[in-house]
Amino acid sequence: MGEAACREVAQTRRVKQERTTFRFADLFAGLGGFHQAATHLGGECVFASEIDEDLREVYQKNFNIKARGDIREVKPEEVPQHDLLCAGFPCQPFSKAGEQMGWDDAVRGTVFWNIVEILRLRRPQLVILENVAHFVRHDAGNTYQKVKQALESLGYEVDYHQFSPHQFGVPQIRERIYMVGCLDSLDGFNWPEVETESKDVSITSVLDKNPPDAGKLSKQVIQCLEVFQQLFEWFPKKTKLPSFPIWGMEFKATYPYDRDALSRVPLGEIQKSRGCFGVPLKGKSREEIYKLVPSHARAGRGAFPHWKKLFIRQNREFYLGHKKLIDPWLPKIQAFPPSLQKLEWNCQGEVRDIWQYVLQFRASGVRIKRVNTSPSLVAMTTTQVPIIGWERRYMTARECARLQSMNDMKHLPGGIAAFKALGNAVNVTVVEKILGELLPLLNAKPLVSVNGVHRNGDSGSSGIKLPRSQKVAAAFA
Ligand SMILES: C[S@@+](CC[C@H](N)C(=O)[O-])C[C@H]1O[C@@H](n2cnc3c(N)ncnc32)[C@H](O)[C@@H]1O
Repeated sequence: MGEAACREVAQTRRVKQERTTFRFADLFAGLGGFHQAATHLGGECVFASEIDEDLREVYQKNFNIKARGDIREVKPEEVPQHDLLCAGFPCQPFSKAGEQMGWDDAVRGTVFWNIVEILRLRRPQLVILENVAHFVRHDAGNTYQKVKQALESLGYEVDYHQFSPHQFGVPQIRERIYMVGCLDSLDGFNWPEVETESKDVSITSVLDKNPPDAGKLSKQVIQCLEVFQQLFEWFPKKTKLPSFPIWGMEFKATYPYDRDALSRVPLGEIQKSRGCFGVPLKGKSREEIYKLVPSHARAGRGAFPHWKKLFIRQNREFYLGHKKLIDPWLPKIQAFPPSLQKLEWNCQGEVRDIWQYVLQFRASGVRIKRVNTSPSLVAMTTTQVPIIGWERRYMTARECARLQSMNDMKHLPGGIAAFKALGNAVNVTVVEKILGELLPLLNAKPLVSVNGVHRNGDSGSSGIKLPRSQKVAAAFA
């Protein structure tokens, strides 16, 4: 973001802070992504809950609020009145057994139940929930339907939308579902317009130059990347690099994969074939064979899924097409653990230099990405922290915090805990954009005044539906 734009945002925030006041509760608070967005827009946090003790400590240091622990042990009456409830709750499946007995039975025992109980008692006018993109498809859409029905039965109108920070100028692709609810009606609410595409953002905007506290790459990591680099350099310039994931162990393998699970293929047939890197399976027992084929061939009981069959076939054809070139390379990659024998080259058409890109060791293999498709932060282990190839180092926690738009957060958890918490957090910019559209739905007189005097004992709704422009003016007057 340019300096002028930053000034404008700061100015807007100041104006809103001076004029607006609303109270919010921050459930499943983590690092406080919702907290930061809501306070930027003039909100005051009246309650937070986070089960992790270390995160509660960090929350207190950053926001001077003592968060409660496990939400299941909090009585709804202990949560003060508020205007906005925020929650990035864990996606727990709701019980099928409850379906026959009713919604309550399906949801009781999940943490979503605790959210519902607080809403039932406190009836904040607004709700915002966040979850993984898959949430709306979970259990064939039933999980989302239950959440929606629960909120609707309490009088909220509900809607959801998928956003990623890269759509708002932040260099992280992180698709998440945001659900919003407003008592009575969402009339006048519009989801924010996306502002940027991934090609418009670059990870360089969040990086420091050679930060001294950055983790260094291990010898093994460097060697593994050099081995893949060598393969790319050996390749004729005119030959396209694979756009499918390279699975080194499939080169020379011939075990059957396209009909059924290995466990259901006759042993004699498997024994005629070859496992990882072409190791003969002749005379081996099933147990021995399972150790000699790739882990992706052992997973699952039924036939291989289509995508897996496709990747295996593509790798084997690729090997046969470039046998001469790959054969001398194969023993080099074979020396590494299986997760380092897989690589995804997501830079088709670009310079074939691994060290110019952003790299990440995922459980599924090494990912090489362009600087403008920066990796999605996950709750990472040490080795999964994104690598800045051209500086041959891991990203720092501070830089990852910027990917979550948590630039102004003073304290982070120590060590790897920071990366884990950041991988679980909600992006502040995305929430701020949504709240910027949602908060105007609050009435001129919010449910609760900032000094704690309860102004309006009912749901906070005047019952009068104002046009959007008037609502904005009223909410921020
Ligand atoms: C997906 S993360 C939400 C992170 C948060 N939105 C942020 O910006 O950092 C879910 C959080 O809920 C916390 N949590 C899980 N179960 C909980 C419970 N029963 N009570 C309170 N917090 C809980 C986890 O420790 C985790 O920090």
